[in-house]
Amino acid sequence: MSADPEKSSFPVQLIAIPAAILTVIFTVIFLITESDRLRIYPLTEYDLVIPADSIAIEHGRRVYTLRGCVDCHGVNLEGRVVESGLLTGVITAPNLTPGKGSAIRDYSTEDLVRVIREGVKPNRRSVIMMPAHKFQVIHKRDVESLIAYMQSVDPVDRRLPATRLNYPVRLYYFVNRKLGLFPANMIRRPVEFAEDNLQTRLEKGRYLATSCVGCHGYRLEGGRVPGAPPTWPVAGDLTPSGIAGDWEKEEFIRSMREGLTPDGRHLDARYMPWQAFGQLTNEEFDLLWEYMRSL
Ligand code: HEC
Ligand code: HEC
Repeated sequence: MSADPEKSSFPVQLIAIPAAILTVIFTVIFLITESDRLRIYPLTEYDLVIPADSIAIEHGRRVYTLRGCVDCHGVNLEGRVVESGLLTGVITAPNLTPGKGSAIRDYSTEDLVRVIREGVKPNRRSVIMMPAHKFQVIHKRDVESLIAYMQSVDPVDRRLPATRLNYPVRLYYFVNRKLGLFPANMIRRPVEFAEDNLQTRLEKGRYLATSCVGCHGYRLEGGRVPGAPPTWPVAGDLTPSGIAGDWEKEEFIRSMREGLTPDGRHLDARYMPWQAFGQLTNEEFDLLWEYMRSL
C-alpha cells in the first residue's frame, strides 16, 4: 500500500486552515492590546503645594477612604492582589508605603499626582486597571491632602506578585474598551483641575456625588456598573424616580452607615463600599441627599 497523501481519507486542511486563521487573529488581538499597554503618554507638569499639618493629613485619609483607594490598596496602604485567576491573570494593587516591596519608593509628588489623575506612571506608560479616569474630578486641595496622607504613612514590608494579564482578559478588553484596563487612554485631556470653589449646597452635594457616579451613572440613574463582571448586582437608581423618591433621608443614611436597606436587604460591601461612605458626616449626607432629590 502506498501512503500517498493525496489519497489520505482525512482532509488535514480542514483543521490546518482554520487553525492558521485563528492563530493570526489571536496574535493580532494580542499585539493590539500589547500596543495599548506599551503606549507612551506625555508627562504633565503640576504645581502642587503639599500641606504638612495634621488636619490636612486627616482630610487626606478621608479622601483615600471615600474615593475607594482603600478597597484596593488596603487600610495601611499595604496593597493586595485584587484579581487572580486563569481568565484575568494577576492584578495587584501595589504596596504604597515606604516599606519593603513598595511600588513608589522613589516617586516624587508629581509622579504621584500623574498616577492618580491620569493613570500615567513615571515610565510614561498606563497603570493597569487602576481607575484613574474616575479620579480626575477630585479637586486640587483634596489631591494635595491625599498625597500628604500617602507620604505620611508608616512603612509596611509586603512584597506582592507583579501584575500580569492573561489572554482572555485581553480579548474581553478588545471587544469592550470600557473595561478600564489601561485607564490612561480613557483620560480627557487637557487634564486641568476642576474649579475648586464650591458655593451652593447643590454644588457641594454634586461634588460628593462624584464618588458615586463611577458605579451609579453620571446622573445617578443606576444600572450595570461599567466594566464590572456580569456577576455584579445592578447599582440602584439614586434619583427621585428611585431611592431619593422611595426612601426617607434617615433611611438612606442608615443604609449607608449600617449596610441595611429599609426593606431589610444587606448591601454587599464587595460591590457597594458602604463602610467607606458610612464615614461621611451628617452634614455631608444632608448635602448628598439634597443633590439626589434635585435630580
Ligand atoms: C480598583 C482597584 C484600585 C483602586 C480603587 C485604586 N487603585 Fe491604585 N492601583 C491599582 C492597581 C491594580 C495598580 C497597579 C497597576 C499596575 O500594575 O500597572 C495601582 C497602582 C497605584 C499606584 C502606583 C502606580 C505605579 O506606578 O506602580 C499608586 C500611587 C496608586 N495606585 C494610588 C491610588 C490612589 C491614591 C487611589 C485612590 C484615589 C487608588 N490608587 C485607587 C488598583 C486600584
Ligand atoms: C464601586 C461601585 C459603587 C460605588 C462607588 C457606589 N455604589 Fe452604591 N451600590 C453599588 C452596587 C453594585 C449596589 C447594589 C448592591 C447590592 O445590591 O448589594 C449599590 C447600592 C446602593 C444603594 C442601595 C440601593 C440599591 O441600589 O439597591 C444605595 C442607597 C447606594 N448604593 C448609594 C450610593 C452612594 C450615595 C454612593 C456614593 C457616595 C455610592 N452608592 C457609591 C455600587 C457602588
